[in-house]
Amino acid sequence: MIAVKDVWKRYGRLDVLKGIDLEVPAGGVTCLIGPSGSGKSTLLRCVNHLESIDAGRIEVNGDLIGYQERNGRLHQISEREASRQRADIGMVFQQFNLFTHRTVLANIIEAPVKVKGIPKAEAEATARELLTMVGLADKAGAWPVQLSGGQQQRVAIARALAMKPKLMLFDEPTSALDPELVGEVLNVMRRLADEGMTMLVVTHEMGFAREVADEVAFMDGGRIVEHGPARQVITDPRQERTRSFLSSILD
Ligand SMILES: Nc1ncnc2c1ncn2[C@@H]1O[C@H](COP(=O)(O)OP(=O)(O)OP(=O)(O)O)[C@@H](O)[C@H]1O
Ligand SMILES: [Mg+2]
Repeated sequence: MIAVKDVWKRYGRLDVLKGIDLEVPAGGVTCLIGPSGSGKSTLLRCVNHLESIDAGRIEVNGDLIGYQERNGRLHQISEREASRQRADIGMVFQQFNLFTHRTVLANIIEAPVKVKGIPKAEAEATARELLTMVGLADKAGAWPVQLSGGQQQRVAIARALAMKPKLMLFDEPTSALDPELVGEVLNVMRRLADEGMTMLVVTHEMGFAREVADEVAFMDGGRIVEHGPARQVITDPRQERTRSFLSSILD
């Protein structure tokens, strides 16, 4: 479902991604871990073309992301085309980014109605189902400020799902939350994974990674240093760098 092939990304003179190869099969869950500045967010942002890439290619469900191939060369597609591709790719950030001046329900139906042209009544019905799924059926009319961080993040997940994405990208979805609210968000993510959603998740919740992820990739300095079955990478990493990173976050 996601195929990242030898992707390079540079900001000015700084190489941030240095030849990333990563595949997530349909229905697969991969957790991306690694120290601050290693390029995790950048990689996620490249997958939905919020960032351009300097070399390599990214395919989602067989579609080349962000570029068009002509005579063997890649040319950037229009912003309009890029947003069409993004409609299939749900993204949830550390900061929930809800529209603060809209109710929960209005937040969720916004993109389906505006981008996909779904009739409002139908979008609302789907939104209510999604709110039930994330345990917030009674919050449709609430304003974002009236919700806890964990509730806001669950609304953000419902909002992403309302576009019926083919895959979901999560960038540290629980790291801004108070510890007691982390579990409710992880539970929603676990349920999504159980239902077969393809997910690429930046997280340092190693319990979640061990139980829910199929694979874990460890990034450092713009490279994937180690990648393998979740349990193996977490409990018995092959690389010393992975080992020292894991011990630094586990205690
Ligand atoms: N828009 C930008 N312009 C210039 N440099 C950037 C930009 N975005 C990121 N970088 C740099 O790219 C590198 C990777 O950043 P990135 O945000 O991908 O790291 P990360 O692994 O997500 O870190 P964290 O765990 O802190 O979120 C960092 O050195 C960062 O300073
Ligand atoms: Mg980041």
